[in-house]
Amino acid sequence: MFETIKKEGVIARAIKNNLIQLDTIFLRDFADNSRKNVDNHPIGGGDGMVLRADIAEKAILSVANENSFIVNLTPSGKVFNSKIAKKLSQKKHLILLCGRYAGFDQRLIEKYAHINLSIGDFVLSGGELPSLCLIDSISRFVPGVLGNQESALNDSFEDGLLEAPQYTHPEDFHGQEIPKVLFSGDHKKISAFKRKEQLILTAQNRPDLILSMWENLSRQEKSIIEKIWKSG
Ligand SMILES: C[S@@+](CC[C@H](N)C(=O)[O-])C[C@H]1O[C@@H](n2cnc3c(N)ncnc32)[C@H](O)[C@@H]1O
Repeated sequence: MFETIKKEGVIARAIKNNLIQLDTIFLRDFADNSRKNVDNHPIGGGDGMVLRADIAEKAILSVANENSFIVNLTPSGKVFNSKIAKKLSQKKHLILLCGRYAGFDQRLIEKYAHINLSIGDFVLSGGELPSLCLIDSISRFVPGVLGNQESALNDSFEDGLLEAPQYTHPEDFHGQEIPKVLFSGDHKKISAFKRKEQLILTAQNRPDLILSMWENLSRQEKSIIEKIWKSG
């Protein structure tokens, strides 16, 4: 699963340029029997199998160093977001624990994980896809990973809001036109237009983000949002 991002795109380029390094280790390599078992039944009953703490510990210790910051991927963790990605991008060494089955024995998590993170309110079969999401979004904040053309500064969440809709050629797409102001060359007007679009989109799709920045909005911005919310 991890080979794909090593081969193509922004992450592959970052690895090639020695900006980040990505290694994967396989839990079964640390198993203590010839059948390579890494799991056992949940004590106290219940569905699924639990990943053994002693085997996972050996795997962690095989790569950990004094700079390691250990992230456990779990649906019951704190929901991952751009702010957390930025903070994690400053760590020298991350270890991402990818669960399978019913996840890791809780004692391993308590002993080793610095943080438990979820990528959303849904359950996947393993922690590999969530890890890939973290690797991609965290790497975007590592200096040099994105070229000037691709700056993360204008991305959604950077100023607390979703990014304004984007347009390119052709100018007419099935009769839908690009907003005229974007052709005006008037940067002040364009940025005011984009800010309003951001407010509208965020108010519609992510009222939680608007509420968390309410105090920082101008009176005019609050009234735009209130109108949207009133109109349903
Ligand atoms: C089937 S899930 C285990 C779900 C667990 N029994 C629960 O209900 O919380 C197996 C593994 O997938 C990963 N996983 C699944 N959904 C995830 C999510 N939304 N965020 C982060 N990791 C997730 C975790 O590493 C987890 O240990």
